[in-house]
Amino acid sequence: MTKLSVNINKVALIRNSRGANLPDLIQFARDCESFGAQGITVHPRPDQRHVRYSDIGPLKTVVTTEFNIEGYPSEEFLQLVLEHRPHQCTLVPDPPGALTSDTGWDTVVHLSFLKEVVARLQDAGIRVSLFIDPIEERLYAAKETGTDRIEFYTGPYAHHFSSDKEGAIAPFHQAARICNEIGLGINAGHDLNLENLRYFKSRIPGLLEVSIGHALICDALYYGIRNTIQMYLYQLRDTED
Ligand code: PXP
Repeated sequence: MTKLSVNINKVALIRNSRGANLPDLIQFARDCESFGAQGITVHPRPDQRHVRYSDIGPLKTVVTTEFNIEGYPSEEFLQLVLEHRPHQCTLVPDPPGALTSDTGWDTVVHLSFLKEVVARLQDAGIRVSLFIDPIEERLYAAKETGTDRIEFYTGPYAHHFSSDKEGAIAPFHQAARICNEIGLGINAGHDLNLENLRYFKSRIPGLLEVSIGHALICDALYYGIRNTIQMYLYQLRDTED
């Protein structure tokens, strides 16, 4: 089964644009869960334009599914994560001003740094996932860091999906086989949507979780969040067809 974790950063962005508490981020997280989401993802960026550091405590108290916090492992970020102990922490290599995450870790270059960070988080009982591109040597190096899972950066897949879906999935399919062989759990995220999700799921054996924000929240403008979550869950169903 592949879990759907809803990234609620865009909801915080709308709230922050007016200064009051509308929409209510905490209620939105609760509602996503009651409509079927199996996880809630947040990515508190250093400029706090999306989810703020102060949102994390209240979210931790209401999220009853899987709480996943993403971010660059600065000391400030690590303190936040260690204080609130989410189920999972996804480490991304984003520089502070990044618009969105658009590349994975070079785990070969950053091996010793990542090893240390992964151990600190795991010692606190937090599962760790590393955001990564489907590059063979980086998968083996990811394994050496001790991480529990990797999250494939699926931007390039989504970008090439409409022109060449087989070519777009090929490196991810191959990388997934390696992950399964060496015992790395597989998550995925970025630019996944109602068009490209089913094919991705069907070609990635052992896909444990997807985290989806931008497209899902955009779809919710048309279909409503309850319907939208059901539509994404339908794309993730396990049955063959
Ligand atoms: N995974 C990571 C590491 C991200 O930074 C993001 C965007 O915040 C996502 C997944 C979700 O991407 P999208 O908003 O395109 O669905």
